[in-house]
Amino acid sequence: MQLENTNIILGITGGIAAYKTPDLVRKLVAAGASVRVVMTASAKEFVSPLALQAVSGHPVSDDLLDKDAEAAMGHIELARWADKLLIAPTTANFMAKVAYGLADDLLSTLCLATSAPIIMAPAMNQQMWKAKATQHNLSVLLERNIRCLGPAQGEQACGDVGMGRMLEPQEIADLLVQATCEKMLVGKRITITAGPTREEIDPVRYLSNHSSGKMGYALAIAAQELGAMVTLVSGPVNLPAPAKIKTITVGSAQQMHDAVMQSTQNCDIFIGCAAVADYRVQHKTLQKIKKSDSELTLTFVKNPDILSDVAHLANPPFTLGFAAETQNLKEYALGKLQRKKLNMIAANDVSDNTIGFNSEQNALSVFWNNGETKLETADKQLLARQLMQLVTQRFLKDTND
Ligand code: PMT
Repeated sequence: MQLENTNIILGITGGIAAYKTPDLVRKLVAAGASVRVVMTASAKEFVSPLALQAVSGHPVSDDLLDKDAEAAMGHIELARWADKLLIAPTTANFMAKVAYGLADDLLSTLCLATSAPIIMAPAMNQQMWKAKATQHNLSVLLERNIRCLGPAQGEQACGDVGMGRMLEPQEIADLLVQATCEKMLVGKRITITAGPTREEIDPVRYLSNHSSGKMGYALAIAAQELGAMVTLVSGPVNLPAPAKIKTITVGSAQQMHDAVMQSTQNCDIFIGCAAVADYRVQHKTLQKIKKSDSELTLTFVKNPDILSDVAHLANPPFTLGFAAETQNLKEYALGKLQRKKLNMIAANDVSDNTIGFNSEQNALSVFWNNGETKLETADKQLLARQLMQLVTQRFLKDTND
């Protein structure tokens, strides 16, 4: 689990988004974290301490001067216990308090007393967020390495529309996991394929598919965020090459195969996200095929299977394949996992054309030997980060076993 052995203090301040915090606690606990909740007095107006006690499994702390609470886990012990202090939602008032070092309640005192990283998820009215004072406080906090997650843009409880919504609990939990995994792939080499291949028929025609490359490019960026040295082998797409990522552009499956076999000679992880054509025409004509009255018959021959060839190397990298299926998702994905000798496979259901090929979003069912998990529908950038976290965990586990 991604937050195993991580102690998190969840500080809740008094904003309407506080009603989402029981869900946030559940998501953090599901990721393996131990969570203790600290509330300000006004937070208790928005969400019940009892609900938070129930989901965290620990009594909620709310009073700096409570003798009973101090006898159990005093504020200094609590500050030392924490691996992370997450404050969600963080009001404009609380940002100001921390920026100026005030310590007039338990949560603001913990902000001074802890050496753990402090992470804030601001939530407030859009005008309050834009206010010069709040923006000044934000710059002070960022300068002190306090991390801010969000806020997001959107409709607000007060009816305004703009920046100021707290990120959703799942997004906060994911970003926290990502921060925990941060730079865990430093020194590791990853090769990722993306996009379609183009199998030429004659000088003006080719056989291809709807892959846009978005999923593979998002994975390359997510892998780079984790500190890896990434080589992206890309088919023809309309995306800019990601900054500081070695990008090799290819056309056909055979060209992609050659580039991948070169770059996986010295590589720790290989991810096959490209939609590679299984077949190519046996004889590409040198001249344009002319229309005639009779039918046209083309003979196709099989392309090399890049993913399988990498996984069958004498000393293969950790290999993640994709499976694009329109039916029997699990059965077909597990078949590919075994047949191609993969470490993991991420299967997407491409029968629904709102996700998967050439869309902004995707959803994945991920399988490995004796394990599986689902990554629910989300933007490809978020999904790529979630998938890279999973890959990192499985890769590190396999290399340590
Ligand atoms: O590019 P996007 O628009 O963002 O869309 C993303 C995606 C839908 C293309 C991506 O998520 C995805 O599913 N990629 C794999 C598509 C595919 O070709 O799946 P497949 O089930 O046909 O192939 C299985 C695996 O074998 C894939 O990892 C594929 O890269 C690999 N393969 C297939 C054939 C071949 N000759 N060589 C291969 O390496």
